[in-house]
Amino acid sequence: MLVFERKADLTVYLLQQRKAGNTIGLVPTMGALHRGHLSLIETSVREADITVCSIFVNPIQFTNKKDLEKYPRTPEKDQKLLEDAGCHVLFCPSVEEMYPNPPYTQFSFGALEEVMEGYYRPGHFRGVGLIVSKLFNIVQPDLAFFGQKDLQQCRIIEHMAADLLFNLKVVVIPTVREEDGLAMSSRNVRLEPEARKEATALYKALCLGRDMLLKGEEPSVVGREVEAFVRTFPGLQLEYFSIADGGTLQPVKVVSDHKQLALCIAGYAGDVRLIDNLLTEV
Ligand code: PAJ
Repeated sequence: MLVFERKADLTVYLLQQRKAGNTIGLVPTMGALHRGHLSLIETSVREADITVCSIFVNPIQFTNKKDLEKYPRTPEKDQKLLEDAGCHVLFCPSVEEMYPNPPYTQFSFGALEEVMEGYYRPGHFRGVGLIVSKLFNIVQPDLAFFGQKDLQQCRIIEHMAADLLFNLKVVVIPTVREEDGLAMSSRNVRLEPEARKEATALYKALCLGRDMLLKGEEPSVVGREVEAFVRTFPGLQLEYFSIADGGTLQPVKVVSDHKQLALCIAGYAGDVRLIDNLLTEV
């Protein structure tokens, strides 16, 4: 696997690859890789000729300084995992390399970022939009892979790519879970044993909500039931549970008006913030 720290060196390499007729897959990450990330890498390795994984802990998307400081970093382990997964290129730039000047440009994603993560972490998606568009411009991938685990991020990037005419396809990969259902996340390593046990209730809450909706219960009733379920776990603090349209992510009142529903949840297990979601056809 080739490792590049400078965008100019990566660009020269990718130009040669493109000239040779190879397609390029990009998997943007912030490192501390787990099986969720690796499933994106593995799909890219299958679907594109050259897979580029970027590892960059993007400071401007963190709305909480402590969260940025505490973000896990495991560079040697990441490199080994990527090599074993058949990744061709690792791009791990410095902050100065990605932000040579403080940025003036700001993204705004309208209604898509007024709900859920955008509401509770104002400015977060502005930071994600900027770094992902920089990476799209540097790598110019044919395919870009994102995890459904961050559903709102997926929808925002799909729209950003379409609005700005990025010549690439955004591919969304299903969430990879631990055996007990907990969605894999780089933050899971920070869970204390008791919080780790209770964290699985977030996924159970989503399943409970989905099953109730499939039985024809009203979203408002389902919302109350799911919130009551989460409250039975003393170590969990629910931030939101939303039954939303799978495309627009706006809250749903009447289930039959929608083709696809997204059940989205966020909360703290101890002091670790976790998110999860399920998509379901109704
Ligand atoms: P990060 O949290 O490192 O996630 C990188 C990619 O892995 C994202 O597309 C995320 O949705 C996906 N992912 C994380 N956990 C997953 C799981 N359990 N199953 C499947 N995919 C999973 O998301 C980011 O980084 C950043 O916001 C980034 C897009 C890199 C921009 O800085």
